[in-house]
Amino acid sequence: MNDLADRIEDRDAVVGIVGMGYVGLPLAHAFWECGFRVLGFDIDAEKVEALQDGRSYIKHIPSDQVAEMRRGDRFAATTDFSRLGETDAILICVPTPLTEMREPDLTFLQRTAEQMQPHLRQGQLVVLESTTYPGTTRDVLRPILEGGGLAAGEDFLLAFSPEREDPGNPDFTTRTIPKVVGGFDEASRHAACALYGACVERVVSVGSLEVAEATKLTENIYRAVNIALVNELKVIYGRMGIDVWEVLEAAGTKPFGFGRKENKTFFTPGPGLGGHCIPIDPFYLTWKAREFGLATRFIELAGEINTSMPDFVVQALMVALNDRGKAVRGAKVLVLGLAYKPDVDDMRESPSIVLIEKLRALGADVAYNDPHIPRTPRQREHDLRMESLPLSEKTLADQDAVLIATSHSDYDYAWIVAQSRLVIDTRNATAEVTEGRERIVKA
Ligand SMILES: NC(=O)c1ccc[n+]([C@@H]2O[C@H](COP(=O)([O-])OP(=O)(O)OC[C@H]3O[C@@H](n4cnc5c(N)ncnc54)[C@H](O)[C@@H]3O)[C@@H](O)[C@H]2O)c1
Repeated sequence: MNDLADRIEDRDAVVGIVGMGYVGLPLAHAFWECGFRVLGFDIDAEKVEALQDGRSYIKHIPSDQVAEMRRGDRFAATTDFSRLGETDAILICVPTPLTEMREPDLTFLQRTAEQMQPHLRQGQLVVLESTTYPGTTRDVLRPILEGGGLAAGEDFLLAFSPEREDPGNPDFTTRTIPKVVGGFDEASRHAACALYGACVERVVSVGSLEVAEATKLTENIYRAVNIALVNELKVIYGRMGIDVWEVLEAAGTKPFGFGRKENKTFFTPGPGLGGHCIPIDPFYLTWKAREFGLATRFIELAGEINTSMPDFVVQALMVALNDRGKAVRGAKVLVLGLAYKPDVDDMRESPSIVLIEKLRALGADVAYNDPHIPRTPRQREHDLRMESLPLSEKTLADQDAVLIATSHSDYDYAWIVAQSRLVIDTRNATAEVTEGRERIVKA
């Protein structure tokens, strides 16, 4: 299998990426940029067609980038899994969601492995990047891949390297975020480190597949728990008449022992957790820990606090409307921001969805505006069937309340406050607004 190391060194190795989503597409670009030939695989024919036509379907990845990749002969996308035979390394970036019962749903991964298995060949390196519980690569992925008669460690190489993509964050790219790598055996670890080392600035090699899997979960559990902490402080300080955002800003000036904005270790309250990772991944550990007779109490508590945040916001909205002699039933409410975080077009698990559903259930007449999401896509568990309402002085003046759920940087918050009767701000987005503060309620 030394051959692979030489092929990596010479950029002769072909990198296959299975799952061309938020993680797979930037990864494909990174390897392409480093001189590799890259083949992207997806079951979604529309995505494959877009890539083949040189178009991007992810807002923060410009179509120019995909078009540039397509201009030469080093990048193609396909739904034909028999082409996996052309690749030297296969990186798996498929979804790992939770089931309705909030248990790990590995069906995407299992299906991917089944599709790969007939095309697996001697000497190939397979790396799982999808977030999952410790033991998945060894106990779930490996047996399916080995079903065709090839053995991990003997015939093919197997590793886990968690994706750490932060979509929309301009400070880091796939290439500048250190890559953690764990191997099934020494040869696998070595090969995976060589592959990523050819493309990312720093590879962090760890002792096993399970350490690498647990590393990713730990990162996201850390975030979920700290976000829950500041959310709980928001409720407590709010009741005391203390502005939690001002407290956190002040605490964040401590040069040690507290999260700092500069290095992105600063946690802020919000209307709930969103995105594909933080609300989901910690429960992968919860599920696995049960096998060992253990409860993940921090994770459960953080989940409880974070999922109660939309109710806290709705309550604050109801009280503010009540103060103005208005019931939430029949009230016109405009939710600003549907994406789960600023300046992205991804609304998976966004708390805005929960807010809209809760307000609708109370009889409010709810609309939304999001410059990045013109209409709501159909999701597995939600189908809002809404279109973004263009922002104008009249639209804002027509609302009984404007609810800032995501602090997109495109918004002119001073203008929004000036036109609105009541603004519920869940993100401290109006911190700099000086006029009309009496119309702002932080929640
Ligand atoms: N989005 C993030 O910011 C982020 C960050 C870190 C880790 N992750 C993890 O990375 C993994 C992928 O997440 P994502 O956000 O890229 O998901 P995504 O939904 O954007 O992309 C997944 C892609 O996989 C494709 N797919 C599904 N089943 C397939 C199959 N059998 N064969 C080929 N393609 C298939 C889908 O069509 C889709 O294009 C998840 O485990 C996620 O937890 C995501």
